[in-house]
Amino acid sequence: MRRYEIRGGRALSGGVVLQGAKNSALPLMAASALCTEGKVCFENCPVLEDTSLTERILVSLGCGVTRKGGLMTVDPSGICRCSVCREYCAGMRSSILFLGPLLARFGRAEMFLPGGCLLGARPVDIHIKGLEKMGADVRVEGDRITAACPRGLRGAAIELPFPSVGATENMMTAASLAEGKTVIENAAAEPEIGDLADLINRMGGHVRADGGRITVFGVKRLHGCRKRIIPDRIAAFTFFAAALATNGNIMVRGADPAHLRAAMRALEKTGAAFEISEDGIGVRRALDRILPTEIVTAPYPGFPTDDMALAMALLTVADGVSSLRETVFSDRFALTDELLKMGADMTVRRNVALVTGVHRLRGAAVRATDLRAGAALIVAGLAAEGETLIEDDGHIARGYENIVGTLSALGADITEREN
Ligand code: UD1
Repeated sequence: MRRYEIRGGRALSGGVVLQGAKNSALPLMAASALCTEGKVCFENCPVLEDTSLTERILVSLGCGVTRKGGLMTVDPSGICRCSVCREYCAGMRSSILFLGPLLARFGRAEMFLPGGCLLGARPVDIHIKGLEKMGADVRVEGDRITAACPRGLRGAAIELPFPSVGATENMMTAASLAEGKTVIENAAAEPEIGDLADLINRMGGHVRADGGRITVFGVKRLHGCRKRIIPDRIAAFTFFAAALATNGNIMVRGADPAHLRAAMRALEKTGAAFEISEDGIGVRRALDRILPTEIVTAPYPGFPTDDMALAMALLTVADGVSSLRETVFSDRFALTDELLKMGADMTVRRNVALVTGVHRLRGAAVRATDLRAGAALIVAGLAAEGETLIEDDGHIARGYENIVGTLSALGADITEREN
């Protein structure tokens, strides 16, 4: 168990260098398994529990992996196994992203239903149906998934019932080595999808990602390349929320405003002032208070579901009643009980939370129930009066690179210990 201790009430100030995007790094690392010649070299690869676990999966398959800070080199030429073990699958939902690459390259793959953050039901039916359309025979027995396509995958017209990010990624990687053309309609359009298309193209593939439609022309083989991972828009939002909640003034270096439009628009409605420069995005309050607002999550380019918990933490200290509606996952509000312990005032009915701002939160002993809820509790703790103790079963380190060092450099009083 890791424990974060925060003495709140200090306004954050200074600059932070934004990490590479976790949600890009994981699918990109899995997609590197497609490459048969040469090495794939990732720049700006965040040092996280989830990227370490993905690295362990690659090694278990037979890849050579070396890492030096943000530089990760994967040599997938020696892959000799097509199965991911139960322990690794249970540890991380994105283990399912190995299904497309392994199936496409080797004609078979075996893994287990994935674990990861508990955000309500997280089925993989869309992944499976898409692969079946491309000619794969996929079986789920208990928690075991076995997929095979002895005659190879063939291009198909696939319309997703929901723009699932992971399913879109599995379709793209599978299609990149399939025979012929694949068109994915109602595909996810998140910036991480564009990053995956860029990787496949750099490896010699042929992908066009055009909003909600993705066209992939299959090629015979893919080769090594160099690829810089995009900045982490969720981590950027985390720092924005922390700066605003503490009435601070910070610069998030490397943040890309093009990826953050809906998120910044929502924060502007709460009274945030952004300053965009070549360096990144500066944020501070334009007013002496946080204004209440209404937020509805939606697939990109809508307001990201990953930012919801962070927005909730900020709005607990707004001047009025905010409404937050979650439409992507069935259980994003697990942190409500924790924020109530800190003196927040809110009610939840099904997928809508009504948050009545309080003047000040107070420190309390709370528990991180998932990655973004954990980050949201850090934001709340930084804004609260007194000491907050967050118990965390490893969620926060899955997605944030050296969060304690980064926030301390911004003037926060935060420490962590493991026991
Ligand atoms: C990814 C992100 C996660 C983010 C989410 C939505 C990564 C590593 N994780 O997760 O941080 O919150 O996108 O933006 O990139 N669904 C099904 N059947 C499926 C697949 C999904 O019903 O086969 C449902 C899910 O239960 C959920 C919704 O679709 O309700 C969205 O899930 P999805 O977009 O697939 O999320 P992930 O790719 O798992």
